[in-house]
Amino acid sequence: MTKTRAAITCVNAWAPDYVLTNKELEKMVDTSDEWILTRTGISERRILKDKDKGTSYLGAKAVKGLCEKAGISPEEIDLLICATATPDMMFPATANIIADKVGAKNAFSYDIMAACSGFIYSITTASKFIETGTYKKVVVVGADKMSSIIDYTDRQTCVIFGDAAGAVLLEADDSGNGIMDAILHSDGSGCQHLHMKAGGSVKPASHETVDAREHYVYQEGKHVFKFAVTNMADVSAEIMEKNNLTSDDVAYLVPHQANKRIIDATADRMGISSDKVMLNIQRYGNTTNGTIPMCLFEWENKLNRGDNLILAAFGGGFTWGAVYVKWAY
Ligand code: UT7
Repeated sequence: MTKTRAAITCVNAWAPDYVLTNKELEKMVDTSDEWILTRTGISERRILKDKDKGTSYLGAKAVKGLCEKAGISPEEIDLLICATATPDMMFPATANIIADKVGAKNAFSYDIMAACSGFIYSITTASKFIETGTYKKVVVVGADKMSSIIDYTDRQTCVIFGDAAGAVLLEADDSGNGIMDAILHSDGSGCQHLHMKAGGSVKPASHETVDAREHYVYQEGKHVFKFAVTNMADVSAEIMEKNNLTSDDVAYLVPHQANKRIIDATADRMGISSDKVMLNIQRYGNTTNGTIPMCLFEWENKLNRGDNLILAAFGGGFTWGAVYVKWAY
């Protein structure tokens, strides 16, 4: 008997209209289009300019469009998980707000915080509810308004990030497709290299923390880069070996879009040629939890039922992992 698996049966994504180009950043900080492009692969990113709109706005756009595309009513959603590092508020969960905005009245909802690995953590968690038959329709949305936590006077971080959201619908599949395997890791000793210094329970917001610009992303880029290159490549190769997949068997690598050099190293390690790597970092930058579903959405028309995909991510925590998906449509 074929095992019941959770299959991605629909995907949607949404990014705001405003395009922040490298040229515009050149006017804001001491940087250059050439440096950004060669060191990261990024040319432009999208920014949600509306001051009164947060991550739930992005997430709701992605989920509403997903339901319309899938031809389902939001009331049919049983569970909605939001992967985000930029929640609307410390509490309640942004997933609750998104569910309310889209009219997912019958869903229970919660957030998963695993920085840039949040989307792969979330679809793995979601898949268990489907595999066990607990729920029929689970939506996972990866959404981040990174511009809300970026210091636009810090050239080391402001050139990297952008705002976007992507969402998938997960449903049961008995035909051998779906989420086949996942290898996930975390290592909290990496916290010191990538975090936000204030605003949490250790260091609540105060005049001092605002003056010290401690409510923004703090990243020791070079250090994070070293860990990201090794761990994302290792875990991607490991999941291929574990599932007896050769590079010929893999249709696409779907990597988190943090830095083109990290993606190239991962593809090299897997023996995957560049035409089989989903890459849109040049247009969106690093949208944290939005990157992987954004790629799936943009490549959807090229995918065939039964295609083997390796989703891979590395992020703050540290968190990292890879998910093996057999595309279901
Ligand atoms: O998604 C979550 C996980 N995050 C990541 O995976 C990010 C990992 N890290 C990276 O992608 C890269 O480390 C960065 C893109 C952040 C930085 O690239 P790098 O090649 O590691 O540069 P670096 O930090 O070693 O800096 C090299 C030089 C420095 O100047 P000096 O000290 O050599 O004179 C920096 O000050 O480049 C300078 N620099 C810049 N120059 C122009 C740093 N940022 C910029 C900039 N424009 N925006």
